[in-house]
Amino acid sequence: MSTTVTRVRRAMLFTPGDDMKKLAKAAASGADSVILDLEDGVAVNRKQEARATIVEALKTLDFGRSERLIRINAVGSGLEADDMTQTLPAHPDGYVIPKVEHPEQIAWVAERIAPFDRYESWESGSIRLLALIETALGVVNLKAIATADRRLDALIFGAEDLVGSLGAVRTREGWEVFYARSAVVTHAAAYDLQAIDTVYVDFKDMDGLKTDAEQAVKMGFSGKLAIHPNQIEPITQVFIPSDATIAHAQRLMAAFVLNQANGTGVFDFDGKMVDMPMIRAAERVIQRAQAAGKISS
Ligand code: COA
Ligand code: MG
Repeated sequence: MSTTVTRVRRAMLFTPGDDMKKLAKAAASGADSVILDLEDGVAVNRKQEARATIVEALKTLDFGRSERLIRINAVGSGLEADDMTQTLPAHPDGYVIPKVEHPEQIAWVAERIAPFDRYESWESGSIRLLALIETALGVVNLKAIATADRRLDALIFGAEDLVGSLGAVRTREGWEVFYARSAVVTHAAAYDLQAIDTVYVDFKDMDGLKTDAEQAVKMGFSGKLAIHPNQIEPITQVFIPSDATIAHAQRLMAAFVLNQANGTGVFDFDGKMVDMPMIRAAERVIQRAQAAGKISS
């Protein structure tokens, strides 16, 4: 079992890797993570240009507090080896691996990183991995993928590609991907990983984005992908608990400590039975509030 992931990843902004202007905008965007894309956001004949541009961006741009992730092309696409060897020396904070279907694909990326840890004297394990689950086979193999490597921090759900893989039709309600979305968050919880929700493609529809992000919070996701800078603030806000939610979690934790001291396991709180799962949920609320600076750690 991996140790609990502590990095806060609420809004994670995708930016095409061959567009320096957008990369600069992303670096200053305030997103928790910026994903410098080499995969579907970059045309096939622009891959080499994108690798060089990303390396340049990592060397020259100030990303502030934002995590710097690179999305490589799928392991097996034939593009992944150049993606890794050319970008690794620039020491990104991690890699997003798309269309993961087997644990071996994660192991392959981890094996490319290991020598750099040794020869560049980087802190061991400092480069993190995030796996995009966006095909039917990826969903079916979630358990093996979730336990593939100690660098793995998060499972990311990708609805748009999944719909193609299923032969389904994308709808606003999202029932066609509900099983997969739920499977991703369930496996992440089971193996102590973060779960990150899919993109909301209609980037002008802020109400729809908010509703979709709120649904993700209720399901247990800890963050959501973004494709446009305007999506960052609404997503971030949704993943910060409200004052009332924080106050409730704090009262619950205080009651828990008191009951534990008195030797009571299950107890009554505001007319509801409280047991360990509710305590863990309250702890997560408090962690999110601390990450947002709403309460001290
Ligand atoms: N990252 C950084 N900057 C972005 C951005 C992104 N993802 N999306 C838009 N911007 C910038 C634009 O360059 C523009 O900058 P400017 O005001 O300095 O000219 C500003 O934000 C406003 O953008 P807007 O005109 O509203 O959108 P657009 O038509 O330029 O771009 C998209 C629309 C969808 C092409 C663009 O948002 C995008 O490239 N998104 C990422 C797509 C992606 O990576 N997909 C793969 C993962 S699913
Ligand atoms: Mg895709």
